[in-house]
Amino acid sequence: MKKEKLEQLLSEMTLEEKIGQLMQLTGDFYDGLQREMTGPLAQLGVTDDIMSFNGSVLGVSGAKDVIKVQKSYLEANRHQIPLLFMADIIHGYQTIFPIPLAIGCSWDLELAEKSAAVAAKEASVAGVHVTFAPMVDLVRDPRWGRVLESTGEDPYLNSEFARAFVRGFQGQDLTTDLTKVGACVKHFAAYGAPEGGRDYNTVNMSERQLRESYLPAYKAALDEGCQLVMTAFNTVDGIPATGNKWLMRQVLRQEWGFNGVLISDWGAVKELISHGNAENAKEAALKAIKAGVDIEMVTPCYIKYLKNLVVEGEVMEALIDEAVLRILALKDKLGLFENPYRDADVMKEKEVILCQEHRKAARELAENTCVLLKNDAVLPFNKNQKIALIGPFADSKDILGAWSWKGNQGDIISLAEGLKFKGVQLSLASGCEVESSSAVELAEAVTVAKKADVIVLALGESSAMSGEAKCRANIGLPQGQLELVKELKTIGKPMVVVLFNGRPLDLHGVIDQVDSVLESWFPGTEGGNALANLLLGEVNPSGKLTMSFPYAVGQIPVYYNHFSTGRPIITATDEYTSKYIDIPNEPLLPFGYGLSYTTFAYEDLQLSASKITVQDSLKITVKVSNTGLVAGAEIVQLYLRDVNAEVVRPLKELKDFQKVLLKPGVTKEITFTVTEDQLRYYHTDLTYTSDAGLFEVFVGTNSNDFLKDTFKLVK
Ligand code: GLC
Repeated sequence: MKKEKLEQLLSEMTLEEKIGQLMQLTGDFYDGLQREMTGPLAQLGVTDDIMSFNGSVLGVSGAKDVIKVQKSYLEANRHQIPLLFMADIIHGYQTIFPIPLAIGCSWDLELAEKSAAVAAKEASVAGVHVTFAPMVDLVRDPRWGRVLESTGEDPYLNSEFARAFVRGFQGQDLTTDLTKVGACVKHFAAYGAPEGGRDYNTVNMSERQLRESYLPAYKAALDEGCQLVMTAFNTVDGIPATGNKWLMRQVLRQEWGFNGVLISDWGAVKELISHGNAENAKEAALKAIKAGVDIEMVTPCYIKYLKNLVVEGEVMEALIDEAVLRILALKDKLGLFENPYRDADVMKEKEVILCQEHRKAARELAENTCVLLKNDAVLPFNKNQKIALIGPFADSKDILGAWSWKGNQGDIISLAEGLKFKGVQLSLASGCEVESSSAVELAEAVTVAKKADVIVLALGESSAMSGEAKCRANIGLPQGQLELVKELKTIGKPMVVVLFNGRPLDLHGVIDQVDSVLESWFPGTEGGNALANLLLGEVNPSGKLTMSFPYAVGQIPVYYNHFSTGRPIITATDEYTSKYIDIPNEPLLPFGYGLSYTTFAYEDLQLSASKITVQDSLKITVKVSNTGLVAGAEIVQLYLRDVNAEVVRPLKELKDFQKVLLKPGVTKEITFTVTEDQLRYYHTDLTYTSDAGLFEVFVGTNSNDFLKDTFKLVK
């Protein structure tokens, strides 16, 4: 529909009808439909006539229900403005993929894009129009329950994944490609940096750090065409993001030119009161609309007070009009005026959802997201070994993670099922529960373990131990699981741990006690099949960590791209340097770390020049060889350091990476190209430029293991 027609439609709407478009209700307002509650439900006091012009619905899906609600809604809507259906399709609709923190560890943008495309296709036939994803919050604190939704601690890598997810969700043409859904990048901004790793807590950082580390991935999603932005619960420089005019009008709208829809997070408009930033719901509505929030998610401040605020001259009706126009434009872009049911189709749901092609995509991604953290020659197994599979996750279906509300237990392949499908000689015992244990379970596990050749321990966190509002001050495995490891170790057989978890853990008492550790995160619907392929060597692990594993929780925040400080530690015995006296500075496992069943060697790092100008590009080559006995994929990483700058620069910054598959004995020359724009940073006056001077180059298998060289930028 042309802009003029939308403006014409707007001109025919009453003020109440306009304000209705700015409201989003949950499904239980529509015949009490099944819906996903992801936050506290306020008493809204919404009347039936308000219902007839509510703009969007949260958390309703299923073609039959969506068609039913849309049909009855349109019968009551004077202007035939269709309802917008939004939901949290974070890493899959019913075919659930690994959690985003796992997807990040694949370093595979194509597989990431494909996972979003599958999620969109399934969600779209189920009647969903917009997904509240990608979540691109940069994370450095594994105590925070929502690190599982992020792709990690690096701004560049998060930006690349943000683009890939948006491409997968939205495709090239949302209007005509009905297999796609609108994407909503979140949570704007810096939600991943709450003090103490405690959800919804205060975020305190300089504008420079915000722009340098936390904003890039949101911007990348918008540069890729993301249609919506969701505000964050936290404050940004003392002002709640949802009422933060600088963040939304200045940065998002003016600097970045974003003209899409800005939706609050669940109840975040009303929470301006709890923040102490609004006296009441009326002032919360005033602040949020002035800050630029178009849709208020599931609280009634707008619907109750905006009309009065306009009548009283506190709010220009033009502010409401601009918000309504953006929402109408989104509905138009989705083709909803012409086809309010879009791709919702009960028959197609049966064909598309959980089809073999989608399961294969989920299995392939899970095979690429698992990270081999340790392997003292025990993995891979061969099929004639007798395996004792022990632990709370041995045959668990709780392997989807916290944001998989449409995932059904019956569709999931557990680790035990995956191994059984492969014909492995398997004996099972729980050994303990996730967070409790008993002497009986322990004794049974010991009996089973003694009869086997190899012990596989399936350990970790339940999906209820991570996710929103699921923060942990201690990030080790629960005590019962640690005792199980200790007890089984006394048997003296090879031991492998497979981890199911939503955050980097403190692995003391685990990784130091066993021969091998395979990190599977929450591997999704096809997790058991993927893990069986990896444990039996049919697939060689290639995942690399995108979030550091701390040595201890006291070390947090620990991340690779940190500054030098004025007293960097050189040797552990140094006095008066920036160090702990009881643990090392380095994380237990660094960013970019991950092992393989083969080995890789790096040699012959070459730079095309020792000096470049702003016009030049620098070619960097390195030779990578597969020095082992099996084929494997290696993720070659390129980091740079600006050695001397106007503001201190990280010791390393990821600038590029390549995933290369090598057969045994094969050597491949990998080439990277660096240009001046990759050397820029925010100066003291926040201008984003580069400086002449010395740069260090690191190319390697992780952020701690690399070849090094230098070059100069001359101006
Ligand atoms: C939740 C989450 C947000 C989600 C929204 C809708 O509170 O913060 O990520 O998209 O509510 O469910």
